[in-house]
Amino acid sequence: MKPTVIEELKYQTGFGNEFATEAIKGALPIGQNSPQKPAYGLYAEQFSGTSFTTPRLLNKRTWTYRIRPSVLHLPFRQTNFEFFKSSPFNEVPTTPNQLRWDPLPMPQEKVDFIEGIKTIAGNGDLFMQAGIAIHIYACNKDMTDRFFYNADGEMLVVAERNRVRFLTELGILEIKSGEIAVLPRGLKFRVELPDGEARGYICENYGAYFRLPELGPIGANGLANPRDFETPVAWFEDREGKFELIAKFGGNFWACEIDHSPLDVVAWHGNYAPYKYDLRRFNTIGSISFDHPDPSIFTVLTSPSHEQGVANVDFVIFPDRWLVAEHTFRPPWYHRNVMSEYMGLCYGVYDAKEHGFVPGGGSLHNCMSAHGPDVEAFEKATNSDLKPQKLEGTMAFMFESRYVIRPTKFAMETTALQKDYYKCWQGLRKNFKT
Ligand SMILES: [Fe+2]
Repeated sequence: MKPTVIEELKYQTGFGNEFATEAIKGALPIGQNSPQKPAYGLYAEQFSGTSFTTPRLLNKRTWTYRIRPSVLHLPFRQTNFEFFKSSPFNEVPTTPNQLRWDPLPMPQEKVDFIEGIKTIAGNGDLFMQAGIAIHIYACNKDMTDRFFYNADGEMLVVAERNRVRFLTELGILEIKSGEIAVLPRGLKFRVELPDGEARGYICENYGAYFRLPELGPIGANGLANPRDFETPVAWFEDREGKFELIAKFGGNFWACEIDHSPLDVVAWHGNYAPYKYDLRRFNTIGSISFDHPDPSIFTVLTSPSHEQGVANVDFVIFPDRWLVAEHTFRPPWYHRNVMSEYMGLCYGVYDAKEHGFVPGGGSLHNCMSAHGPDVEAFEKATNSDLKPQKLEGTMAFMFESRYVIRPTKFAMETTALQKDYYKCWQGLRKNFKT
């Protein structure tokens, strides 16, 4: 049976709202969560993203009203996806060298979104719900009879090349380059590729779910504004057949047979749901006098750790913006950081590295590994006329984590790893004079 896909995508706006949505009028119970007999013969099922007793303001759960309850599947058996890796990321020793990769090539054979995931690096311990994994997806096949959920973490997907459409239990969301989608831990989904193929980045977050950063003295508005986040309305497919459900659980993959589509939620209400965000809506804030603030001013979403102000991972972007600071070295300064930084590029050029860091590629500067502008960027920034300048057509991002980010064996052995990255700084001259 052919999947049913709506052509018009509909979203509800707001960040983490208590949404309520129904694909069939009257499917959503009023005034209670679990009626004795839900409308249309649906089953009521709760989907919890936090412990029951998590404080009210942080609590995440959604009530679903579905054609069949989620328990209805055959037993899982272990399966494998060769390049999709999990903690503890100890395949190879972690180098302090600065690392940079070319984009991974698009696949020659037909692979779907899950098969097309290659893990670049990661940290922490998924069993302790701490740390992240960083993946690149490159795929060219729709998932039609295969469904996936990830019990190990939520997935923040950064589209780089082409569109990706996530058909999830809680509705459909589609992103294109410069947009992100966040799929909560445990959410079942399949992926379609409206442009035939797609590539991008994934931050699999084992830790506390992503949320908006505090704004402090910035005030009530700015950075990523809640109203610009979009969560899909209820959508379902009533399909029967021979399907496969893949679970990522405990760092392993498990497959089971299921005789119906699990994307069968007719109505739902709650605040544990997928969302998308157009990074171009980010209200960038920066210096209007001299110097520039720390890159934390560009934080879109943060996953906090138990230590205040220290993130399990921050998702940070470098979008179009004006540079107006006077008598200032304008690119990111040279620095060493206790936090570890993986960077990627959706489109355009990044001002500290005009060559060698390209869309689909990535770089990794780990805990205390020195980094900063290359020779060309240094010379330009030191000698240029500091008139107001607009950086346009660019969207770089960073996953910044408190834990050392450990590359996989694949990432260290792929021909995409640039062996000569260190050379970009070797021409920095001694300018010291007395
Ligand atoms: Fe940095």
